[in-house]
Amino acid sequence: MNHIRALIRGSKTLLGPFPEINTDNGGVCPYQLFLEWFDSAVQHGIYEPHAMTLSTIDRYGHPDARVLILKDVDKEGWYFASSSKSEKGKQIHDNPPVSLTFYWPQIGRQIRIRGAAEMMDQETNKEDFLQRGITARAIALLDKQSSPLDDNQTLDFLLEEKLKWLKVNQQAIYPYWTVYRVKAQEVEFWQAHTERKHVRLKFARSNDQWVKKQLWP
Ligand SMILES: Cc1cc2nc3c(=O)[nH]c(=O)nc-3n(C[C@H](O)[C@H](O)[C@H](O)COP(=O)(O)O)c2cc1C
Repeated sequence: MNHIRALIRGSKTLLGPFPEINTDNGGVCPYQLFLEWFDSAVQHGIYEPHAMTLSTIDRYGHPDARVLILKDVDKEGWYFASSSKSEKGKQIHDNPPVSLTFYWPQIGRQIRIRGAAEMMDQETNKEDFLQRGITARAIALLDKQSSPLDDNQTLDFLLEEKLKWLKVNQQAIYPYWTVYRVKAQEVEFWQAHTERKHVRLKFARSNDQWVKKQLWP
């Protein structure tokens, strides 16, 4: 076996121990269960529990995915923020259906959320932007995300300039900064089991009611 294949094949997964879940106890609302699982992830010291994969579809129907930070969650949905001019922003504009995936390996939990992303109002976007650190704001204001970078000196130079400018213009807003909300249609909670009897609870929205089913692992 070659080295990389041996490393991959030798990597362990789903070793446990994992928390038990009571399938009757999954509640009737995925939002509530998400809060419980998120709280548990924090209690277990999961590193960056709010990092999630956002999957989108481009105008040709091709999938794309990247990691983002969850900004908030409430009964209306799951929130993240980015530039509406970014690839993901354009893809969401063309195709609002997206999915969000969380994976917390230390407790063997995955959460999958499917639904349409929608843009929040300007006031929400502005508030979120101003809460970001100064370097994050300066980078956004450079308005260059995902365009080709020819040399790092240009990045250092432009960033330095923008930081100086921002210190004087502290309330400056990047007009494309957008908070998106995903209104879930389906949410699946997956709990690993060391004997592979993984527990899957799937919530599907039906006429604004949540229907819960357990799925085979
Ligand atoms: C842990 C982590 C958190 C990130 N959080 C964000 C975020 O909140 N917003 C964002 O626009 N990009 C975030 N990124 C960068 C994105 O993964 C991605 O590189 C960038 O948004 C460009 O994506 P796009 O070209 O598909 O639009 C994060 C990356 C990582 C690894």
